[in-house]
Amino acid sequence: MDKLLIQGGHRLQGEVRISGAKNAALPLMCASLLSTDTLRLENVPHLMDITTMLRLLGCMGVEVSMHDGMSVELRAHGLGAPLAPYDMVKTMRASILVLGPLLARCGEARVSLPGGCAIGLRPVDQHIKGLTQMGAQITVEQGYIVARAARLRGARILTDMVTVTGTENLMMAACLADGTTIIENAAREPEVVDLANCLNAMGARVRGAGSDVITIEGVSAMHGATHSIMPDRIETGTFLVAAAATRGQVRLQGADATLLEAVLDKLREAGANIQADAGGISLDMPGRPRSVGLRTSPYPGFPTDMQAQFMALDAIAEGTGVITETIFENRFMHALELQRLGADIEISGNTAVVRGVPALQGATVMATDLRASASLVVAALVAQGETCIERIYHLDRGYESIEEKLSRLGASIRRVQ
Ligand code: EPU
Repeated sequence: MDKLLIQGGHRLQGEVRISGAKNAALPLMCASLLSTDTLRLENVPHLMDITTMLRLLGCMGVEVSMHDGMSVELRAHGLGAPLAPYDMVKTMRASILVLGPLLARCGEARVSLPGGCAIGLRPVDQHIKGLTQMGAQITVEQGYIVARAARLRGARILTDMVTVTGTENLMMAACLADGTTIIENAAREPEVVDLANCLNAMGARVRGAGSDVITIEGVSAMHGATHSIMPDRIETGTFLVAAAATRGQVRLQGADATLLEAVLDKLREAGANIQADAGGISLDMPGRPRSVGLRTSPYPGFPTDMQAQFMALDAIAEGTGVITETIFENRFMHALELQRLGADIEISGNTAVVRGVPALQGATVMATDLRASASLVVAALVAQGETCIERIYHLDRGYESIEEKLSRLGASIRRVQ
């Protein structure tokens, strides 16, 4: 299994390009199931999760062709069995995103229940509740969600909590339903807006995406489209935090500051100078970062996907930061690994008190999930000596060419077996 070796202590300096967003790409790929025509997606990141989704769609009969490295054409002309098997869903929870489109297009779907994962229980009851309200018959048989509906019908759906993939699944299903669906308490994440824009380009009638009420007027058929995927706001945030931790100066081309205001605010509070324009974001960190306190919440609040990276930043900052995680119940596993590097972190329930130390020391640590692994990279970049990060397949799920990008910025980083 691959490991990353990072020699800490190098300031990040220079320019890199931000990739297309993983969490936008995954639902967008599933949207191809809604039409018999070709959906062309551009700015697709090269990531393990994207490959897994392509394999899953391929198994269902979607024709996949890749172009010039960053574009993918998906044509769901003749679909086979509308089945998402356990082996694929267990490696990537986002596979649940095929449920809504399959049911809407084929009238049936069998999707493995995702089960628990490292960061929490993550049930999919809201996806099931919403589809049931749209008239689907849903049972759970031998670990599979078995859904049937000759034709879904529009409904008013109020989700119990804000759920990103839940909103996306229901929005896609509603596109081909009979009548109008209203999703209340909808997720306002930019990835939901990106999906809605693509669905509308495919002939759907979606209004209100980006607000907490989304209205979808069902249509009888959808057609092909070309859509360019939004930049990855979490990759952007991760590189900005890495640069801030190393007191660096970077420019992230293609990054969009309007997608991560809460993160930029916290970086400014930590002492970073940030300039944003239409072409990207520049950050300059003149000295030791100051601790910041934060509380994760649904968009436009501070994203849970940036919590781990900020914990690494607070670990070497001046002062004490209090971090509260409100989205996932078990998303502090990086704290133990950061402690192995010398961080002073006290966890009580969903709150972490991080007392900044003058320096971390390299050690062997283990990545436990995608964003946890990103926080270990940030910590390793500033630690004295060498850090070995094991299980970096977690990192490969969500960060395109991370070693190349960090090397280009001056980090000493290499992958070994
Ligand atoms: N929840 C339920 N029932 C449901 C759905 C959600 O109880 O039916 C709970 C979850 O357990 C969680 C909360 O609601 O406590 C929010 O979960 P949400 O459904 O919003 O998460 P998700 O859609 O499964 C997406 C991202 C995650 C990101 C979260 C929160 C994708 C593919 N994944 O997950 O990304 O952390 O939203 O913003 O979009 C990552 O990229 O590292 C990652 C984990």
